[in-house]
Amino acid sequence: MLVKCNQQPDNSLASQNDSMPEIKTEPVNLELSKLVPGNDNIQKEEVIVEWDDYFGQRKKYSAYPLVKILDTVLRNHHLDKENTIVIFDCIDGYKPSLPVSELYGNIQGYLVDASGPDSLPHKFQPYYLVWKGPMIEVKKYPWPYGLSGLQLVSANEMFKVIKPAGADKSTGFQLFYSNCLKCHSINKIGGKMGPELNVPKNITEYWTERDIVGFCRNPASYRYNSAMPPITNLSDKELAEIVSYLKYMKGHKTHAK
Ligand code: HEC
Repeated sequence: MLVKCNQQPDNSLASQNDSMPEIKTEPVNLELSKLVPGNDNIQKEEVIVEWDDYFGQRKKYSAYPLVKILDTVLRNHHLDKENTIVIFDCIDGYKPSLPVSELYGNIQGYLVDASGPDSLPHKFQPYYLVWKGPMIEVKKYPWPYGLSGLQLVSANEMFKVIKPAGADKSTGFQLFYSNCLKCHSINKIGGKMGPELNVPKNITEYWTERDIVGFCRNPASYRYNSAMPPITNLSDKELAEIVSYLKYMKGHKTHAK
């Protein structure tokens, strides 16, 4: 799932401005190790993270502010903050995403260089994303480690492929979006930690609803050593909504080849 970078680091970014074409609909792929170090616009800052969700305590880092990185990228690629989604690409296939506009609010994201002076365990390399803000808020944000790249995609383009047009399936879609998409793709959009769930065969074409729900509740009761964590935060009704979204997507396959 690693992304390739077609971006030059540092000052050359500025000079690309003039020659860039207007709005892109192709995803912009950025490799953090090429984008961040040595870029004069992106400097490390001292940051106190009140609650580090991974370490379960207060931590101090010297880290790159995420908005500084995004400012540079949005400008160079003429992307609209309101219609762009950032996907965090991790080495293990985990791909949480957030609307870019959310990154400009009260909760600020920072990229910790895991091999830098803050030296973190190996699995955190190359980068670890942390959030500055009260515990109750930052717990809702993704804390990816082994973060290697960012992908910026147009929300319209992304939703066109995975979001049902009708209002009736939108609850299931929203639930899938915030609970499953970071690990599973639909029409090849989403995480790669778990299997694709729509193409070429939709999961509901070969798993019963009962098994999908049963698996989500307790993956270890189906497979020894399953890498999927049990879903404990959703009600039965909510899981049923997700299944009905999945069934709907059976009739809306794209990128099936
Ligand atoms: C942290 C990552 C992660 C999240 C979040 C996650 N899954 Fe999974 N899922 C996996 C992995 C990895 C597998 C691969 C199977 C295994 O290891 O047993 C899997 C397998 C599955 C399977 C079995 C299909 C197969 O062929 O293996 C289903 C169904 C499934 N997930 C549904 C869901 C649904 C629905 C959600 C959201 C409510 C969800 N998963 C959230 C990682 C995840």
